[in-house]
Amino acid sequence: METATSSDFSAALAAVAGVEGWLTDAQARRLWDAARALPASAQVVEIGSYRGRSTVVLARAAEARVVAIDPHAGNDRGPQEIEGYASEAESDHEAFLANLERAGVSSRVRHVRRFSADAHAEVDGPIDLLYVDGAHRYRPARDDIREWGARVAPGGTMLIHDGFSSVGVTLATLRLLVPSRSFRYLGRTGSLIAYRRERAPLARNALRQLAELPWFARNLLLKLAIVTRLRRGEWPY
Ligand SMILES: C[S@@+](CC[C@H](N)C(=O)[O-])C[C@H]1O[C@@H](n2cnc3c(N)ncnc32)[C@H](O)[C@@H]1O
Repeated sequence: METATSSDFSAALAAVAGVEGWLTDAQARRLWDAARALPASAQVVEIGSYRGRSTVVLARAAEARVVAIDPHAGNDRGPQEIEGYASEAESDHEAFLANLERAGVSSRVRHVRRFSADAHAEVDGPIDLLYVDGAHRYRPARDDIREWGARVAPGGTMLIHDGFSSVGVTLATLRLLVPSRSFRYLGRTGSLIAYRRERAPLARNALRQLAELPWFARNLLLKLAIVTRLRRGEWPY
């Protein structure tokens, strides 16, 4: 017999079945488990919502309200969609609102329509669960991990999409998290990499993350093969 939690998760997956985005079922489960473990008083923040796929999963799992930060401005929209998507951005925004409504979570999500760097004043206090899936270029990814990561409460969780997959996110991770003593690497679900804010042994924490580099190399080769049309298939994430 299904437990209440697994049937709730199945319902959340069904709610996002038609929502475009980049989140596998296994990654949705990881978000779900992290959000589900939190009390109603917790703070959940998502950077990069797109059409609401991950937002809906977080909001259906969490008792707490979710702050979703996304400018819907047409930049860094998805793989190979860095600039020039202004007209699609408005449709993304409308689809985001409609998808939240359809999934019954509109009242549980506060959308901050700003770039993450300009959204700090919109979020008070420490963050218990931070999901980073905004701009994937090096600088904004680095700033999200550094500035928003600094706001994760001790014992809190930071989940980052496209880790050891996107070049920008991976370089930011190598710079900030591989040599970190304050974020313990917990592992990954596909490209969704997970950290807990707690003191971590430097060498072991670094080695665990560096051990993911062969998988990163494999993702780069796959992307190269897709871009050069040597291979068809889904962009790895
Ligand atoms: C890869 S998509 C997010 C996918 C989403 N999490 C899902 O589950 O489908 C990236 C999103 O980040 C947003 N974005 C781009 N730059 C941003 C920034 N500086 N701050 C916050 N969001 C940003 C884009 O508008 C886009 O919707």
